[in-house]
Amino acid sequence: MELIRAKDYADMSRKAANIIFAQVVLNPKSVLGLATGDTPLGTYAQLIEKQKAGDCSFAQCSSYNLDEYVGLSADHPQSYHYFMRTNFFDAVDIDAANTHVPDGAAADVEAACTEYDRMVAAAGYPDLQLLGIGRNGHIGFNEPGDTFPRGTHVVDLTESTIEANSRLFDSIDEVPRQAISMGIQTIMSAHRILILASGEQKAQAVHDMVLGPITPQVPASILQLHPACTVIADEAALALC
Ligand code: PGA
Repeated sequence: MELIRAKDYADMSRKAANIIFAQVVLNPKSVLGLATGDTPLGTYAQLIEKQKAGDCSFAQCSSYNLDEYVGLSADHPQSYHYFMRTNFFDAVDIDAANTHVPDGAAADVEAACTEYDRMVAAAGYPDLQLLGIGRNGHIGFNEPGDTFPRGTHVVDLTESTIEANSRLFDSIDEVPRQAISMGIQTIMSAHRILILASGEQKAQAVHDMVLGPITPQVPASILQLHPACTVIADEAALALC
C-alpha cells in the first residue's frame, strides 16, 4: 500500500485526477472503476476540466460503478446513476453506452448482481478502481461484518451509513435500507486501486485501513493485500496515522 499525503481536499483531488488522467492517456481504452460520494467530486471536476481542455479523452473508456441503492430508479436524484450522469458522464466525452452502474431498480436484484459480476469480469476488471472510504471503514457498500463478501451482492446498510447518507435525502426515512455493491473479491480484482480520504471524520477509518489488522470489521483493511493500491489522504484524514 502506497500512501500519498495531500494537504487538503483540493490537493487530494488534484493528485487523484492526475493519476486517473495518466491512466487514460497511457491507455485510452481504460476500464475505469468509479465511485460516488462527496470524496471523488473534486476529482471528477478536475478530470472534466482536463477533458474539456483537450488533454485527455474518455471516448474509448468504459466504466463500472461500485454500487447503487436498491429501489431507486436511474432518474431518481439520489440514485448513483443520476449522480454519475450529472457529476461526470454528461460533462465528458465518455459514451453513455459504455458506462455501467448496478441496476438497483431491477425486478430481480439477485440476478442483476450476477449479471454485473459477469460484465465486470468480461471487461477484464478495472484497470483503475477509484474508491472512497466510509467512516466505518466500508468500501463500496461492503459494510463491517464477519466475512469479506466476494461478488456483487445485496447489502443491508448499517445505521452509521444510513445516517451518513441521510444528508442527501429530505429525511432519514427516505434513505434506502439496501444497496447493491460490488464485492471485495471484485474490487480486489482491479489492476490498480486508488482510494481517497479527506477530513477528520475519516481519520479512524484511514488509521484502521492502513495500520490496523486485516479484518472484515474494517473492509478497507483488505486493501493492504492488493499489489497496487495507492491511498491519497489529506492531513485531517491522516491525523491518527
Ligand atoms: P463520502 O462517502 O465520499 O461521501 O464521504 C465515502 C463512502 O462512504 O464510501
